Amino acid sequence: MKKIAVIGSGTMGNGIAHVFAQNGFPVALVDINEQALQKALATISKNLDRIVAKGNLTEDQKEKTLQNITTYTSLQEGVKEADLVVEAATENVDLKLKIFKDLAAATKPEAILASNTSSISITKIASVTDRPDKVIGMHFMNPVPVMKLVEIIRGYSTSDEVTAEIMEISKQLSKVPTECNDYPGFVANRILMPMINEAIYSLYEGVAGVEEIDTIMKLGMAHPMGPLQLADFIGLDVCLSILNVLYDGFGNPKYAPCPLLVNMVQADHKGIKSGNGFYSWTHGTKDLIVAERFR
Ligand SMILES: NC(=O)c1ccc[n+]([C@@H]2O[C@H](COP(=O)([O-])OP(=O)(O)OC[C@H]3O[C@@H](n4cnc5c(N)ncnc54)[C@H](O)[C@@H]3O)[C@@H](O)[C@H]2O)c1
Repeated sequence: MKKIAVIGSGTMGNGIAHVFAQNGFPVALVDINEQALQKALATISKNLDRIVAKGNLTEDQKEKTLQNITTYTSLQEGVKEADLVVEAATENVDLKLKIFKDLAAATKPEAILASNTSSISITKIASVTDRPDKVIGMHFMNPVPVMKLVEIIRGYSTSDEVTAEIMEISKQLSKVPTECNDYPGFVANRILMPMINEAIYSLYEGVAGVEEIDTIMKLGMAHPMGPLQLADFIGLDVCLSILNVLYDGFGNPKYAPCPLLVNMVQADHKGIKSGNGFYSWTHGTKDLIVAERFR
């Protein structure tokens, strides 16, 4: 396994390109948006500087890492020599199906096609390709250079050989790949999102305030941050969309999104990205200030 292509150079794509490049793999980073590619290179360079400052990388290794990355706005050009493609484009089913159809046509027949999707069925994505046995989920966590876990999702037809290869390459990135099967939300979001939803229900029903809910979960369960703060970090629209995937996929009312979450997303209170969620973020992300509405 030598040449890697990463599709999408946003939050996740730049991190995925970074870790492959830092571990010596040549990476073709593809995005439809040239500005997103330039921003991704700047982010990777800044994140590498942090690792250099900590003494965990030399300046020379930083330069080599950057040299390992080539950017493309044409998917066909970027993926034609790839042995492994990791797709990290915007979370939208129709977009991903179109990208995987294009990947099947533009890559070598033996290339493995992976998706970093948080919630879309790997089996469904695989169904539009000519090689469902070579389609797999590689769910990296944010921020990619820091977080150890890669949730490896086996689609219905993913082969043992491809799974073994992806487990191995993830270890070469110093990650801890962990395997699961392809059902809605996989494992991480299937467990995390109901917890966040329950925290929002506790607020909605007046069981406790924002600060109290987060403090109880943070100090009581030794979580690094409370579920409401985490929801603001993830984006309330993203949480809502994953809960709907769980709700639709299992047909079980226990996954129904809390009406308060639905209202907040409709009102464009989406967490950090919109400046307001359970907390106010207009002053930056360092201090926790409960949003006025919940004080
Ligand atoms: N953000 C997270 O915390 C997180 C965590 C785990 C997984 N994910 C998943 O990773 C994927 C990417 O999420 P993100 O947060 O990095 O999104 P993002 O919005 O930051 O970046 C998406 C990028 O995809 C590009 N793009 C759109 N259409 C494209 C196309 N046809 N070809 C190439 N590039 C295209 C966009 O220009 C953008 O730069 C999603 O599937 C998401 O569910 C996100």
